[in-house]
Parts: sequence; structure tokens; C-alpha cells
Amino acid sequence: MPSEQHSLEAILSQYAQNRDSLIPLLQDIQEQFQYLAPEAIAAVAAHLNLSENDVYGVATFYAQFRFVPPGLHHIRVCEGTACHVRGSDRILESISRSTGIAPGQTSEDGKFSLERVACFGSCALAPVVVVDDKVYGRMTAPKTQKLIEEKK
Ligand code: FES
Repeated sequence: MPSEQHSLEAILSQYAQNRDSLIPLLQDIQEQFQYLAPEAIAAVAAHLNLSENDVYGVATFYAQFRFVPPGLHHIRVCEGTACHVRGSDRILESISRSTGIAPGQTSEDGKFSLERVACFGSCALAPVVVVDDKVYGRMTAPKTQKLIEEKK
């Protein structure tokens, strides 16, 4: 889309054309577009004089980057220490089972996307799940299931 192309160019123009710009640039693009589209990866590679493979290689190393658009309902599960010790793994597993997607994916019908996050800074509420920017504290797998059913 021309306006997206325009915003992408505006972001690129703020960054020096060297490798140190790579991560902040990818973060900035993801913040603006919510994911890293193939065209964005290609534009970053061209701007920094890197190969697209180089850019993918770095981006896929970090769990924070997404390569598909987020779903209608974006589910984020905290995997920080406080949430982890209180069973966030079980919550993540049960969400994966009921939506059919792994972290970093979007369901085929575009309804759900799933992401793992390091810490939301709400550790007193652990384990924490955030759906569409709403924070749900002291979650359990059954409570999360109920929430997903409501969104289906
Ligand atoms: S560890 Fe989950 S909110 Fe901090």
C-alpha cells in the first residue's frame, strides 16, 4: 500500500545505514505495523546493505518479532520467572491446544494470535495473560479456556 510504503520509508530514514540500527529499526517497524512483513524485511536489508537472510537470521533469534499479522484477538502469555513458577507453561499449552497455534503464529481464520512475553511488570498477579491489551491476573488453564471460548 502506498501509505504503508511511505511510513516505512519515513522510519528507515531515521536510522543510520549500519548494522547497529538493525534491532531498533525492526522494533520500530513492528511497533508501527504490528509485524514484520516480507517487504519490510527486504526494505531493511536494502537500507542497511545486508542480505534478507541476514535480517531474518537476526529477527528470528528474538522472540519479540512477529512475521505474520496479529489475529483479531492477540493473546500474550507471560513467561517471566514469577509467572513461570506459577504454571504459565500449562496455560500456554492449553491455549495452544484450543486455538491450534504455537507462540508466534496466527490461527488460519485470523481470530487468534499467540505470543510469549518475558514480564509484564505485574508479577504480583502472576500468572498473567493479556488478551487485546486487557490484563488477566492469577490465571489458570481452565480460566484461560473460558476466556478463549468467550472470544470464539
Ligand atoms: S513475571 Fe509475569 S508479570 Fe512479571
